[in-house]
Amino acid sequence: MGEIEVYQSEGELMRAAAERFVSLAGESVRAQGRFAVALSGGSTPRSLYKLVANEPFVSRVDWTRVYVFWGDERAVPADHHDSNFRMTKESLLQGIRLPPENIHRVRAELAPKEAALDYEQRLKTFFRKRYGKTDSTTVAARFDLILLGMGSDGHTASVFPGSAALQERERWVVADYVEKLEAWRITLTPVVINAARHVLFLVSGGDKASALRRVLSAPYQPDTLPAQVVQPEDGDVTWMLDAGAAALL
Ligand code: 6PG
Repeated sequence: MGEIEVYQSEGELMRAAAERFVSLAGESVRAQGRFAVALSGGSTPRSLYKLVANEPFVSRVDWTRVYVFWGDERAVPADHHDSNFRMTKESLLQGIRLPPENIHRVRAELAPKEAALDYEQRLKTFFRKRYGKTDSTTVAARFDLILLGMGSDGHTASVFPGSAALQERERWVVADYVEKLEAWRITLTPVVINAARHVLFLVSGGDKASALRRVLSAPYQPDTLPAQVVQPEDGDVTWMLDAGAAALL
């Protein structure tokens, strides 16, 4: 299930995560000339993004070599208060000089299934170009980093308990209607998540402690605990936690 790092406070956790983000970006740019990252949504990463968008972190990244995607998105327009893009724009994108063409937003204003197909096509175009492929053969969507959160029900990205995405072996992106939220979500599938070089879970708060203990120690049951499905074939997973989230480990 990967490395587990516990930090005493949310502040320490976020500073450590900012350091890790910047280090991974630097390593990837040095090794491959690019850093392709899928960002997570929700509320936890907001303070991480604010740290990375300011000194001493912001000037350590060559943002012209960074390609930003999202692990999932709510089926709302980009300016909606629930939009992960809007949250990221306000906390990260506004503070960095990222070429607009390096930002690959989920066009969640489209109908959900159309938005998923559109995003999947753009992922394929990006990764085909990255591997210099011109023919139609599909390459792997190998992100250098996928940042993930975890809900108190053990979901991650927008792969919720019972989601069809858990059985998906072909599609890179799907649209899912989430009954409990009464809302559509667009999400990367485990096909893409498990192709990543590095996966970083950022989990904070005592409300996650029970789910986290089950995800990390209960028998494999991703249909109930979707975060358990994250097991990259050729990559690593690091759980960066604060003391609240780790309280039951
Ligand atoms: C989203 C996220 C989702 C999030 C968890 C945790 O779109 O909401 O991608 O997977 O990471 O729900 O959310 P919090 O960080 O708000 O607790």
